[in-house]
Amino acid sequence: MCGIVGIVGNSAVSQRLVEALKRLEYRGYDSSGVATLNEGRLDRRRAEGKLFNLETKLAALPLGGTIGIAHTRWATHGAPTEINAHPHFVGGVAVVHNGIIENFSEIKDELIAGGATFVTQTDTEVVAQLLARLRREGLAPRAAMQAMLARVTGAYALAVLFDDLPDAILAARSGPPLAIGHGRGEMFLGSDAIALSPFTNDITYLIDGDWAVLSQTGVEIFDRAGNPVSRPRQVSQAAAYLVDKGNHRHFMEKEIYEQPEVISHALGHYVDFIENRVRPSAAAIDFAAISSLAMSACGTAYLAGLIGKYWFERYARLPVEIDVASEFRYRDIPLSPASAALFISQSGETADTLASLRYCREAGLTIGTVVNARESSMARESDAVFPIMAGPEIGVASTKAFTCQLAVLAALAIGAGRARGTVSAEEEQALVRHLVEMPRIMARVLNAIQPDMESLSRELSRCRDVLYLGRGTAYPLALEGALKLKEISYIHAEGYAAGELKHGPIALIDENMPVIVIAPHDRFFDKTVSNMQEVAARGGRIVFITDEKGAAASKLATMRTIVLPTVDELIAPMIFSLPIQLIAYHTAVFMGTDVDQPRNLAKSVTVE
Ligand code: M6R
Repeated sequence: MCGIVGIVGNSAVSQRLVEALKRLEYRGYDSSGVATLNEGRLDRRRAEGKLFNLETKLAALPLGGTIGIAHTRWATHGAPTEINAHPHFVGGVAVVHNGIIENFSEIKDELIAGGATFVTQTDTEVVAQLLARLRREGLAPRAAMQAMLARVTGAYALAVLFDDLPDAILAARSGPPLAIGHGRGEMFLGSDAIALSPFTNDITYLIDGDWAVLSQTGVEIFDRAGNPVSRPRQVSQAAAYLVDKGNHRHFMEKEIYEQPEVISHALGHYVDFIENRVRPSAAAIDFAAISSLAMSACGTAYLAGLIGKYWFERYARLPVEIDVASEFRYRDIPLSPASAALFISQSGETADTLASLRYCREAGLTIGTVVNARESSMARESDAVFPIMAGPEIGVASTKAFTCQLAVLAALAIGAGRARGTVSAEEEQALVRHLVEMPRIMARVLNAIQPDMESLSRELSRCRDVLYLGRGTAYPLALEGALKLKEISYIHAEGYAAGELKHGPIALIDENMPVIVIAPHDRFFDKTVSNMQEVAARGGRIVFITDEKGAAASKLATMRTIVLPTVDELIAPMIFSLPIQLIAYHTAVFMGTDVDQPRNLAKSVTVE
């Protein structure tokens, strides 16, 4: 998603703005730009593609000035060209924007009828045009900002410079987050605190409807009606995170190998390693008092939720209603206040998930969020926050956040089972013991399977389509395997419940179709093997991901068999995630794609 930074500084800002933009690269973007205000004159540099192109332009034609705004754009309205790149300039006003102005077309028609000429295809230009018109009509910058905000609808974060206001940046939030950084004689603005971490960890978050005026000496914040409001200052943890690949080629690879360590952190938060019990903090939702659980999320986080559904239903006998957030929020689901709602999100800012959360809040449900970004909007708007402790995930493809989400959901399901009397104290201890041994097993698996994964991926990189199959919790894992492969290697991949094979996808099977079957030796194993027979009988090339017991039990010829340690059904999804992540990673590396920032994708999707 687009990234915004701004500095009202006491020394030159253009290089520092670009450094801050680099920290937002993980969000995904396809063009960038920077604007400064120097002796009453606005000037800008913009470039298509990576920040390197912007840096090259700045090196050739530097920008002076101690106040400026900058942007990484993830195209929504209009192609990712230099013309469409932000900042947009109209009549002494410069604007950068993240989000979508929903009524842009109506405002644009009105402005064109009033004589305006638009030069971009973006929705953002209406903000710049509208502000310029309001200025021409005689409104001072603050009044123009407030009048513009009253006119636009949609989800936006905005930063604005006026050429006759040499010492201030105006900013507004309605949807996508904006963090304000307090420095010494300088103020900063960013889409998140990570962008501002080289400058300050003293952060104030704007809330929806806020707009602000940043000057060198501080910030004034106003609500929608223009009343001054105060928002708390907090010490952000973002500076502690090294945004660095270490010895790895890509962030995604680093994040895959970090999993044993970060899962230990997550587990340490939810389970007592000495008593082998789920900690009481995991019971911030009163699971004994609710009759059902509504869950929602997007993408990989949704698939973690789907696995969580199996656990809540099995261990806590708690019915779970789950859907992708973009459907959930519009389905008119009959929700009872006797239910609780649980949302899952790495970023805590995904627009559809946040809207679903607000929908459930309005329906009177207790809200819990399983989230990585603890300072995010979802965390702030929840009754109970369940942090996943994964640390910043920079690769667009979610890996460690997924397994940490699973670890937290497993602990919550066990805790819910205890609270509801469906899991005994002995069963709780046995289940927690399995969770506790998980980081060690993950580290062993990561070491053991690496060479196999590379050679298998070399073969897969020559394929056009791949099918993933699984049953039980291996079914959402099959969906996740397909999602991971397609998003970074651009190979077409589908995931199916193995039992659905004969209801359609079997028609695709021939000798060119690799079928990756995820089958731990669990209660579904024999049935999955029957489905594998159906694939084998039609010449399909089977990649069999199983465990030691499963490998011993199956006699089928496969293209490749990946053998993992036999583990309890509870932790199998986390262990079996590792080969599917590595297959996607190595295949993408062989294909030569941009692994960490795949085309068209954004890390944090703050638009609908
Ligand atoms: O930040 P969130 O967890 O809410 O993001 C949800 C999805 O956009 C995300 O999981 C996406 O599917 C990943 N790129 C998948 O690897």
